[in-house]
Amino acid sequence: MRKPLMAGNWKMYKTPAETHAFFEAFKPKVADAAHCDIVICPPFPDLPAAVKETDGSNVAIGAQNLHWGREGAVTGEVSGHMLQAVGCTWVIIAHSERRQYFGETEADVVRKTQAALEYSLNPIVCVGERLEERESGRTEDVLAEQFDGGIAPLEPEQFAKISIAYEPVWAIGTGKTATPEIAAAAHAFIRGKVAAKFGAEAAEAVRILYGGSVKPDNVKRLMSEEEIDGALVGGASLDPNSFAAIVRF
Ligand code: PGA
Repeated sequence: MRKPLMAGNWKMYKTPAETHAFFEAFKPKVADAAHCDIVICPPFPDLPAAVKETDGSNVAIGAQNLHWGREGAVTGEVSGHMLQAVGCTWVIIAHSERRQYFGETEADVVRKTQAALEYSLNPIVCVGERLEERESGRTEDVLAEQFDGGIAPLEPEQFAKISIAYEPVWAIGTGKTATPEIAAAAHAFIRGKVAAKFGAEAAEAVRILYGGSVKPDNVKRLMSEEEIDGALVGGASLDPNSFAAIVRF
């Protein structure tokens, strides 16, 4: 059985003071939740506050991006080495907003994932099709391209340490959740790709999260799908009550 993973992606929201307030309210609401792993990914400047607030708790902290190098003349970037030093243990890679606004490619996904592992960060690697790709019947082609280019080049022992998030771009921040059936079908397709490349055991073990307008009122139904191993949650992770309700699905 795969242990569910519930991850919050705060995107570009909250200051350190707001981070403090969030955890003060959130921690007691999930303190006895042992059925899943809980991760929050705040913006970089909030990471020290988030790590401090969750020290000794059942909540882990991740970043939303990293550079593949250790250090260097790369203005505006943050390395896995720095994230590890600050106490981060997770990192989101290739979120669709990174792909769309910052031109991240499959080659970036591979080198970022490898860099994350080098610094003991658990990568959550995102894949997902855009609306026009779904409407033109290309969903599986796009998922296959993203898998083949960004994930398949990993070594088996690297692959064993990642989680995958399936986030259909048309469902992100739009209030349009993929139906549990649509999500489960995409997950099954991705898991099939994993089995073909890394073997049945790896496919059985890898956690595939669904992301895109997950809310307290739809999480239960999504999580009832055998194929869905957790959620990557944007908007609804900003409020301690709603993210706690999601965690406790
Ligand atoms: P959303 O974002 O929950 O606000 O749709 C999900 C994500 O982008 O990770």
